[in-house]
Amino acid sequence: MKLSVPRRTAALAAVAAMALGGLAGTTASAAPATPAGALAAPDIPLANVKQHLADFQSIANANGGNRAHGRPGYKASIDFVKAKLDAAGYTTSVQQFSYNGTTGYNLIADWPGGDPGQVIMAGAHLDSVSSGAGINDNGSGSAAVLETALAVSRAGLKPTKHLRFGWWGAEELGLVGSKYYVNNLPTTERSKFSGYLNFDMIGSPNPGYFVYDDDPTIEQTFKSYFAGLGVPTEIETEGDGRSDHASFKNVGIPVGGLFTGASRVKTSAQVQKWGGTTTAFDRCYHSSCDTTSNINDTALDRNSDAVAHAVWTLSAGSTTPPGPVFENTADVSIPDNGAAVTSTVDVTGVTGNAPSTLKVDVNIVHTWRGDLVVDLVAPDGSVYNLKPYSSSDSADNVIATYTVNASSEVANGAWKLRVQDRAAQDTGYINSFKLTF
Ligand code: TRP
Ligand code: CA
Ligand code: ZN
Repeated sequence: MKLSVPRRTAALAAVAAMALGGLAGTTASAAPATPAGALAAPDIPLANVKQHLADFQSIANANGGNRAHGRPGYKASIDFVKAKLDAAGYTTSVQQFSYNGTTGYNLIADWPGGDPGQVIMAGAHLDSVSSGAGINDNGSGSAAVLETALAVSRAGLKPTKHLRFGWWGAEELGLVGSKYYVNNLPTTERSKFSGYLNFDMIGSPNPGYFVYDDDPTIEQTFKSYFAGLGVPTEIETEGDGRSDHASFKNVGIPVGGLFTGASRVKTSAQVQKWGGTTTAFDRCYHSSCDTTSNINDTALDRNSDAVAHAVWTLSAGSTTPPGPVFENTADVSIPDNGAAVTSTVDVTGVTGNAPSTLKVDVNIVHTWRGDLVVDLVAPDGSVYNLKPYSSSDSADNVIATYTVNASSEVANGAWKLRVQDRAAQDTGYINSFKLTF
């Protein structure tokens, strides 16, 4: 029971007068027929990725035939990638470490913006072995990550999460660069990673389509992408822990990645599903013939697009874009301490059930909102209570957005906002009622 607060005000008479606007017909304002889809990643131009590989080859050719740790071709590769990222608006830093008596380098590129507490990082090792130019291992991953970073810049992407890209040194000597990076991250920084995506050998000349079996969300993101292409995938088994994702996994960061196979031989079952021959996935693995001729363009193209898809999808955050909106703005007066009244919206054109996150915007003008019981009534009559009666809540108005799990309800039909005033004296009216699917 309500106590001792002054009840009647002059203003209420005005409110009551405004509330005479009759019971509602539906004035549903349906927004776009198709809900806005999640922002799709662009197609990554294969020609651009291949140009980066040609440039890595030229760098090796000009530097004794390799891009290995401690050799001039490695630092030249770092400078090449860094210049492109700087020109595209990245904040870059070169991290130095020492290994085998020579200086090694990691390149880190941050895309400005996004939640610094949720970092999505994609990376690839940039070093080759000393016996060759390392175009599949790992010019391919390095070039795909680079082109994805440039695509982020071209798109002016504004992801929910913070995006970071990395190119690692001395992977071929035991994941040295990525270990150094992770070991030098303060614990608080490590905890900010939502995920690390690794790309090492993604253009093998006799390719398989392997997805790392690690973080389920990352894994599923890649699998869904290939499923959409109609390309079967398998779980990567040619040596878990043999690339830089292991450095991140070791400190508890969720990881995932792609791989098209190294020295292992493709089985006849794999030839059946992917084509190619029952020979090594990469017969030039760690050899001098790992040149620009050692690339399967289709594999490089698909995997580059998959890198971009994962970066776009995983950095977008979990917020699904809102679907169509239906609103009734006709005023409905609420009788004092009387029968329930309703405002209706007719939902049409929405396939299937309502979402588990149905947004219900309620705008009720009232001088003592505790009087009111507010329910959402689904087309089949199911009742979802939005707000209970409360004798003590003397505040004005109910202006709120409620999220209702309406996933068991068919979306189309007449949805009602039902309001009953259960205590005497204060009154008001439904101003508007809006559903966002
Ligand atoms: N750079 C890796 C290596 O030389 C290549 C590799 C082998 C790999 N097996 C892998 C990369 C599995 C990723 C996953 O060992
Ligand atoms: Ca493409
Ligand atoms: Zn490699």
